[in-house]
Amino acid sequence: MNNIIEAKKISKEYVISKENIHQVLKGIDLTIQHGEFVSVMGASGSGKTTLLYNLSGMDKLTSGNITFCGEMISNMSEEELSKIRLKKMGFIFQQSNLLKNLNIFDNIVLSAYLRKEESRQIINERAKILMEKTNISEIKDKDITQVSGGQLQRAAICRALINTPEILFGDEPTGALNSKVTNEVMNILLDINNSGTTIMLVTHDAKVAAKTERVVFMSDGVIIGEIILGKFNEYNNNLKERENKLTNWLLELGF
Ligand SMILES: Nc1ncnc2c1ncn2[C@@H]1O[C@H](COP(=O)(O)OP(=O)(O)OP(=O)(O)O)[C@@H](O)[C@H]1O
Ligand SMILES: [Mg+2]
Repeated sequence: MNNIIEAKKISKEYVISKENIHQVLKGIDLTIQHGEFVSVMGASGSGKTTLLYNLSGMDKLTSGNITFCGEMISNMSEEELSKIRLKKMGFIFQQSNLLKNLNIFDNIVLSAYLRKEESRQIINERAKILMEKTNISEIKDKDITQVSGGQLQRAAICRALINTPEILFGDEPTGALNSKVTNEVMNILLDINNSGTTIMLVTHDAKVAAKTERVVFMSDGVIIGEIILGKFNEYNNNLKERENKLTNWLLELGF
């Protein structure tokens, strides 16, 4: 089983009134392989977030089906889905969404504690390693109001990875960061992907997408094209060339 996600003819509509039905996803086919690093680009309102929410089962499709890790998730109950999400999926958003009344460390470990499948000692150890990897060990006891935006986002990455998910979904996780911090966060994501975690990232930033393996482009609820840049690694690291290739392709698509 090479594919982690297989989405077939997925559609999502919002019924605003009897006469006004808003079709947001219009029969999308998308396959993501285990270990891939895919980004999704497209104009505001084209349906990127909706796609991510539907692929991860956070939102219910109107029609079509989705297989995740070999299991059909599109008609699962919310209870089954939330188990899969907790165990196999991690999420990062534009704003870190950390809980205000918990310090950084507790925010990171909370979902693993709630799962009650491992001892707290094992979870704490994993959190420690993640914090070292993302270079935020020194802020572990801090309140979330006492740290920088970049540190918050790195904590959000640790939180998303605490249950060692199969896939990490990011909805513009660098959208609120300056370019230096964006680079730092991207380097972390590249590391995570290199160690085997699949990543699907929504982004407006061509510089971010240029570091991903495949870029999918959405327009008005459909995927109108994709470009394969290959893994960004020691053999394929000419960033200028990747950026040019991507930018030219985006221009061709009228973006
Ligand atoms: N709950 C909802 N009810 C009705 N329409 C919705 C709902 N959620 C999203 N939409 C509409 O679906 C379309 C796609 O929204 P979505 O958030 O997926 O776009 P996006 O590509 O992520 O945009 P952005 O780049 O601005 O984040 C938009 O036209 C939006 O107004
Ligand atoms: Mg969005």
